[in-house]
Amino acid sequence: MTNEKFSHTHEQMATKPKKTIHRGQPTTGKTHDPGSNSNKEESTKGSKRMTDELENIETAIEASQKSVVSREKEVGESAEHVDGPVGLDIGTSHIVMAQNKGKTINTVKQLNAFFTIPSSKFTKKILVENDVTFFVKDDLFYILGYSAQNFANMFNTNTRRTMEKGLLCAKEDEGVNVLQALINTLIKKSKKQGEVICFSMPGEPLDGPNSVIYHESIINMYLTSLGYNPVSINEGLATVMSELANDNFTGIGISMGGGMCNICLSYLSVPVITYSIQKGGDYIDNMVGVSVGEPATTVKVVKEGGFDLSKPPKDRVETALGIYYEDLVHSLLQSLEDVLISTDKIPKISKAIPLVLSGGTVLPTGFKTLFEKTMDTVELPIAISEVRIAQDPLNTTAKGAMVLALSEEI
Ligand SMILES: Nc1ncnc2c1ncn2[C@@H]1O[C@H](COP(=O)(O)OP(=O)(O)OP(=O)(O)O)[C@@H](O)[C@H]1O
Ligand SMILES: [Mg+2]
Repeated sequence: MTNEKFSHTHEQMATKPKKTIHRGQPTTGKTHDPGSNSNKEESTKGSKRMTDELENIETAIEASQKSVVSREKEVGESAEHVDGPVGLDIGTSHIVMAQNKGKTINTVKQLNAFFTIPSSKFTKKILVENDVTFFVKDDLFYILGYSAQNFANMFNTNTRRTMEKGLLCAKEDEGVNVLQALINTLIKKSKKQGEVICFSMPGEPLDGPNSVIYHESIINMYLTSLGYNPVSINEGLATVMSELANDNFTGIGISMGGGMCNICLSYLSVPVITYSIQKGGDYIDNMVGVSVGEPATTVKVVKEGGFDLSKPPKDRVETALGIYYEDLVHSLLQSLEDVLISTDKIPKISKAIPLVLSGGTVLPTGFKTLFEKTMDTVELPIAISEVRIAQDPLNTTAKGAMVLALSEEI
């Protein structure tokens, strides 16, 4: 395995916490004449800015301690006018939008999926009457999000996806348009020009030929066109920002989603090492499906329907699920060992650091125990104090993105 693709320089990171923390500090390299009026004004402005920034960071840290109230986007419900900085998790399975609302963080989730049917005037009328979200292109109706799931169930088939393995799906010609339309179901154009929106980005995949640059640029351009000031955050770092406030944002954050696993070693909120592997819940569904001769969708239903890793398997599907869960966790930890051993960038941290797990793939009972057991099979060159499961694994990335958005607000 080559480890050339993981990123360990903060400057290369998609996210900019360093910029945030340093914004407003006196510019280095400039000569300062303490007597000049313009310099005095500049310095007053500078210190006001610094105070504002520190306040923003305090607000962000406070927000990271709040609990999340989450809900799914209702079919036919219109998008929200955002009020303040937004966190947006653009994941292979779900898109989640988070906002800071008083005592809680509120998230709204949309399924990142679509379904096409032939267009006709009659069907259009029925779709409109039933509040189904769709758009028309080339004689097809593109039905979006949770509505698409209903159609797929009716036709006894699968929805289509805009993303695969964490990135825009190259196979789908209309993937970008559909993803934009799905984002439109969650957020309206920004009322305030330049409202900060922080969106999640995968780390560079260690095990695939893909790059995240195209994906990031497309999302960045679209959010800009909606009047926002987009800032990206690495998905592993979002896990750290959401869960490790009490640990000074120092530790390893891992998001295990549908399309991939994202890993970030953060030191005082600075992402020191980030990378991804393009295996996640979809990999488990597909591999189990192939192994036991069942459709991946059937496997997914079993997996999400209370599958318990701590109990003996009841049938072939559960046996295979156990095997592929182990395989995924082992691949992930092996990659972490390889990456950490081959870098000289590990900060000298005097005490052991926590490792926190988020994303839908960590949800089955017994997952933490499986992870801890598998950790005994690798030798990480960094001491781990404990393994934790995030408070609300399906909303962690959006919450972490929103925490960063708050601190980036100007
Ligand atoms: N209750 C559950 N038990 C087990 N697995 C679940 C459960 N709920 C969701 N999942 C799985 O979690 C995965 C989706 O997780 P999540 O929403 O975190 O992914 P994502 O952020 O959309 O994807 P990614 O980050 O990989 O791009 C799917 O594989 C899904 O089957
Ligand atoms: Mg995710």
